[in-house]
Amino acid sequence: MKQETAKMAPFEGLGPWLEMAERLGEIKRITAEVDPYLEMATITSLASREIGGPALLFENIKGHPGQRALFHPIGTSFKRLALAMREFPDKSGLDLVRILKEKSKNRILPKVVPAGSATVNRNIERGEQIDITKFPAPHFWPLDGGKYIGTCGSVITRDPESGRINLGTYRQMVKSKNEVGYYISPGKDGRIDRDAWWAMGKPAPVAAVYGIEPLQFMISSTTFPKTHSEYEYWGGLNGAPIEVFESDVTGLLLPANAEIIIEGYSYPGESFHEGPFGEFTGYYGHPGGPCPYIKVEAVRYKNNPILTCHLNCDWPANSEYMMAMLRSAALWNNLDSLGVVGVRGVWSPPEATPLGMSVVSIEQKYPGHAAQVMALAAQCTGAAYFSKYIVVVDHDVDPSKLDEVVWAMATRSRPAQSIDILRETWNTPLDPSLNPPEIRPWGSKCLINACMEYRYIKEFAKRLLHNKPMYDQVARRWQEFGFETPVPKVDIFEQADKLGGPATRPTAGAAIDRM
Ligand SMILES: Cc1cc2nc3c(=O)[nH]c(=O)nc-3n(C[C@H](O)[C@H](O)[C@H](O)COP(=O)(O)O)c2cc1C
Repeated sequence: MKQETAKMAPFEGLGPWLEMAERLGEIKRITAEVDPYLEMATITSLASREIGGPALLFENIKGHPGQRALFHPIGTSFKRLALAMREFPDKSGLDLVRILKEKSKNRILPKVVPAGSATVNRNIERGEQIDITKFPAPHFWPLDGGKYIGTCGSVITRDPESGRINLGTYRQMVKSKNEVGYYISPGKDGRIDRDAWWAMGKPAPVAAVYGIEPLQFMISSTTFPKTHSEYEYWGGLNGAPIEVFESDVTGLLLPANAEIIIEGYSYPGESFHEGPFGEFTGYYGHPGGPCPYIKVEAVRYKNNPILTCHLNCDWPANSEYMMAMLRSAALWNNLDSLGVVGVRGVWSPPEATPLGMSVVSIEQKYPGHAAQVMALAAQCTGAAYFSKYIVVVDHDVDPSKLDEVVWAMATRSRPAQSIDILRETWNTPLDPSLNPPEIRPWGSKCLINACMEYRYIKEFAKRLLHNKPMYDQVARRWQEFGFETPVPKVDIFEQADKLGGPATRPTAGAAIDRM
C-alpha cells in the first residue's frame, strides 16, 4: 500500500476496505462449516483474545448457503480502524483520536442517485417473498433471548418535523421472518425520532442496514449533534459525498452501496419480549422486556452479501478501540467548542468498556482549571452517557497509557480534596451495578483531579526523569552492555536537557511537552 501520498482516496461500500485490510493480513477467512448458534461467536471470542486480532470472515455457514458473515471488522486493530478512517495504517491511538477530532468537523451532504443504480438494489424482495431469517443472524451467548442481527449495522430514522435522517447502531432481535425488534436506550436519536412519529399517532418509518462498511459503523455508533444527519459526517470523514437513494417504501434516504437493507414501519404500542442480550459491559445487560419492532416491507441486498456482526465480550475481544477513539474525539471537540484551553490529549480507556471512563490531559493554566475541565468533560454531549469516572491529569501524563494515569492518581490526587461526585446523571440501562434494573437510567459520576495541586505547582515534588544526553549515550551502547532487545523508548526528559544543556536540577513541575 503506497503511503507517499499523504491522503487516501475516498471510497464507498465494504468491498474496497475489505480488499485493503486483506492485503495487510488483517482478515481471516474461515471456510470450514460453522453454526450461527453460538459457534461463530465462540470462535470470534477466542480468536480475539490478543489485541489486534484479525477480523473473521465466515464463508460457509450452516443452513445459510450463499451467505457470509464478517465479525469484528475493526475489533482492536489500529490498522483496520485507520483504513476505515481513510488513513494509512501507520497511526497510533492518539494520532487517530487527533485525526478523527479534526475530520469530524467536516460535513458533506449525501448525493442522491437513482434507485436503479444502487448496488444494494440488485435483489429486492417484498410482501410474501420476505424472509429475513435467510441471513445468518448469530445467537451469540448461551442466555441470549434469540438471534441478533444488526449488531454491526445502522438503524435509519427520520425526524418527522425537520426531516433530518439519523443513523444509529442499535441491536435487533429477530422476531419472525418479517419482523425484527430494535432496542434503543432512552435519549438516543433513533428513539426520539420514533417517539415523535408515535406522538403524531403515525407509524415510524425505519430502515436497518445489516452489512455496512466500517466507517458507517463508526458514525452510527457515535453521538453527533441531533440537528445534523450522520450522512453528512460520514461524507465528511470519507472526503466525498455518500451515495444514497430515496426509498419508494418509506421515503428514507438509504445508502446505495450497503450489503443488506431491510425497511418498513414500527407501530405505536406494538412490542414483543426482547432480550436478554450479552452486552458491551461484559454482562447480560438487563433481563429483557417489551421492545418495539419493525414490520418489514422490503429487503434489499447485493449478490452474495456479507452480514456484518459485532460480538460483545470482555476486553479485549470487542470493538473497544473504535469506541475509545470516537468518544475521545467527541469529548475533545466538545471541550474545544466550549473554549477550554490547555487540553493536550483525551482518551477513553478501552479497558473501561470504554464508555465507563474518560481521561483528559491538560496543561494547567490557572486555579480551578482542572476542576472546570472535569466538570465539563463529565457532562458534555460526547461523553456524558454512562461515563462513571472522569480523570484529569497533567500534560506530562499520556492519557492513553493507563499505567501512567494510575500513577498520577496515586501520586498527585488527594482523595479528601480531589474527588467530586455528580448524582442522577445520564446512564445506560445496561449498567449491571445499579439494582433493581429500573433505576439504571439514573447514574452517578466520580470526578478525580489527578493533577499536581495548582496552588503548590511551583514547589510540587519534581518527578524522576532521565538526562537526555545520558540516555542517548546509553542507547548507543545498549548492545555493548549485552542487552538483546531494543533499548526502551523514552520520550520525556528532564526539561533542562531539552535545551541541550547538561544535567541540572529540574525546574518545578517539569513542564514537558511530548504530545
Ligand atoms: C456494537 C454496538 C452496539 C450498540 N448497541 C446499542 C443498542 O442496542 N441500543 C442503543 O441504544 N445503543 C447501542 N449502541 C450505542 C449507540 O450506537 C450510540 O450511542 C450511538 O451514538 C447512537 O446513535 P445516536 O446518537 O444517533 O442515537 C451500540 C454501539 C455499538 C458500537
